[in-house]
Amino acid sequence: MLPVLLAITPFPADLLERLASNYEVIAWKEVADGPAFLASRGKDVRALITNGMVGVPAGMADHLTGLGLVACNGVGYDAIDIAWARSKGIAVSNTPDVLSTDVADLALALLLGVFRQLPAADRFVRDGAWLKGAFPLARQLAGSKIGIVGLGRIGRMIAQRCAAFDTVVGYNGRTRQPGVPYDYFATPTALAEWADALIVATPGGPETRHLISAQVLDALGANGILVNVARGSVVDEAALVARLQSKRLAGAGLDVFVNEPDVPEALLSLPHVVLTPHIASATVQTRRAMAGLVLDNLMAFAEGKPLPTAVE
Ligand code: NAP
Ligand code: 8YV
Repeated sequence: MLPVLLAITPFPADLLERLASNYEVIAWKEVADGPAFLASRGKDVRALITNGMVGVPAGMADHLTGLGLVACNGVGYDAIDIAWARSKGIAVSNTPDVLSTDVADLALALLLGVFRQLPAADRFVRDGAWLKGAFPLARQLAGSKIGIVGLGRIGRMIAQRCAAFDTVVGYNGRTRQPGVPYDYFATPTALAEWADALIVATPGGPETRHLISAQVLDALGANGILVNVARGSVVDEAALVARLQSKRLAGAGLDVFVNEPDVPEALLSLPHVVLTPHIASATVQTRRAMAGLVLDNLMAFAEGKPLPTAVE
């Protein structure tokens, strides 16, 4: 009898088919009666495909008594309780590196989108407003000081791109990084005081909750711009909305939100805010590469080999 692989988040059908040589593959969306399935088959589930926002739902975890691997289809694993997994001897894998360039690209797209007011300019043309006059002048990106909070795999790619746009880069993290050509700031507030725009690229979860606090946003100031491609939880969203509404912040480019897919109503009508639906890694090529890594980890686990990208 093959071990059960349960996929609770979307995964390419052709790769699920390949996994069928090593697993009895079950897609959660095809399960008619979830509670009945968990009661009768939960104990047989050996591996799980999920992502960093869904994790292992609380109501499910207790039933998965034979679970050995949580394969996260994403680099961020903030919704997965790593301490719980370790205490149960459950391995966790994720998908680092393969998505970094796309996420960095989207961070720059949001940054440029806010500086140059791209969505408003697009609407201006479509609405025929151009026939009545010129679009208001926007703001130059070149020469700006860009602060990156979280100079990790993605943060470094953002920094490279920022340099190519002739901006000056500074960064914050818990530790100063040897050998990087950017100025280090010991706190997000110090970085925000210096920067014209902050780009957030840390992990989510309890350790970084509201790292970008009201104080940091105030330090960024009325001319400051915030870009978030990390997780909604990293930013105090209510403080952000209040400051955008009262023009104590110049603008924001946001790919992630606290309560996805619900975006705070107030953001929808604000100018100088560019919103995207958590798409930073959402290209055909990158999603395929991510799924390939998930498959590699599942295959290695089934064959008793070391996981290619285990969360240590
Ligand atoms: P990574 O290589 O682990 O980098 C994370 C960086 O954050 C590290 O440089 C780390 O530096 C810093 N950091 C951690 N805790 C911090 C704190 N409390 N204060 C300041 N900096 C802190 O991870 P990555 O591969 O770049 O991915 C980063 C995150 O991007 C993921 O975890 C995920 O949440 C997000 N992401 C979002 C999307 C999307 O679709 N929008 C896609 C992929 C990833 P120190 O250790 O020195 O603090
Ligand atoms: C995905 C992400 O949207 O990797 C991450 O941390 O947030 C994104 O790449 C997500 O993992 C969907 O599976």
